[in-house]
Amino acid sequence: MTSRQPTGALLEVDDLCVRFKTEDGEVTAVNGLSFQLQRGQTLGIVGESGSGKSQSMLSLMGLLAANGRASGRALFQGNDLLAMPTAALNRIRGDRVAMIFQDPMTSLNPYLTIERQMTEVLELHKGMSRAAARARAIEALDAVRIPDAARRIRRYPHEFSGGMRQRIMIAMALMCEPDVLIADEPTTALDVTVQAQIIALLRDLQRDFGTAIILITHDLGVVAGLCDEVMVLYGGRIMERGNAESIFYRPTHPYTLGLLGAVPRLDHEGERLVAIPGVPPNMAHLPAGCPFSERCGFVLARCATERPPLAAAAHDRAVLRACHVEAGLVAAQAMGVRP
Ligand SMILES: Nc1ncnc2c1ncn2[C@@H]1O[C@H](COP(=O)(O)OP(=O)(O)OP(=O)(O)O)[C@@H](O)[C@H]1O
Ligand SMILES: [Mg+2]
Repeated sequence: MTSRQPTGALLEVDDLCVRFKTEDGEVTAVNGLSFQLQRGQTLGIVGESGSGKSQSMLSLMGLLAANGRASGRALFQGNDLLAMPTAALNRIRGDRVAMIFQDPMTSLNPYLTIERQMTEVLELHKGMSRAAARARAIEALDAVRIPDAARRIRRYPHEFSGGMRQRIMIAMALMCEPDVLIADEPTTALDVTVQAQIIALLRDLQRDFGTAIILITHDLGVVAGLCDEVMVLYGGRIMERGNAESIFYRPTHPYTLGLLGAVPRLDHEGERLVAIPGVPPNMAHLPAGCPFSERCGFVLARCATERPPLAAAAHDRAVLRACHVEAGLVAAQAMGVRP
């Protein structure tokens, strides 16, 4: 196993590809993803359904379906997650890198009390005694503001609301004090008020514990409020990547612009949502050039055949973009649709 840390990043992903064997041929769900995550940083991954957000992160955790294969490199503290034997990956998973999902009920065992599920993790990963594990679990539930945690820890998952279950999942994920928390659409199944509470909770936990967070969401507004960096995916590729504020306030990729147009406009109540015309691409038959070219309002003749490289944007060195269209042209349009 290679053990090196060329950049000092906590996680360094280089040319990550995820391919699935299907009846329709091979599907490349994630194509050439590269990014770095620094300690304590928050990275947002946004994109429409099917853009490769979940599969990219599941591949790092060794959780792809049986017909899927990952290639590339993903150095976590210098060790390649993609090349690691299962036993070593199991030790990292849930302990150094934890993941939470959209629907907590799929990750919680309905037949076991919260106490049992939480203490089991600590006994397994930390070798704690039952009593010490119980104390730590209650502390974690307190930290995510479950009221009366010492008593409620004895309850079963169905005795909690959806928002409370997601808090429990976050508590479970953070209990081992992981270096990275991957949150895959953690608020999608919740109503808007509870969503805001969970996002605020993640922000507080990050401030208090310094956990690096990778947040998968289709909501660029959430990203702007929580993330340092953002990666915009389409068709398994990075369209734009960089400083979250730059990308939210000065998007220069037509696809990001489309995503922003789809954000409900709070300042213009009742105004129609502007969705991106067309549908996400068939992943088995992507164009040779830019995957977004078929739906892009700025499309140039060469976009369908010549793939634009991910390169520094001339106007803002904190942003990389993969687009043939002049950044200024897109930015000018962005002024009109900013949410
Ligand atoms: N087991 C599989 N076999 C074949 N294709 C798969 C498999 N799992 C996922 N895919 C494909 O991989 C692509 C990326 O899926 P992924 O789950 O990463 O999307 P996503 O961006 O997380 O979308 P969503 O917002 O809907 O969760 C999709 O086109 C999906 O159909
Ligand atoms: Mg997903």
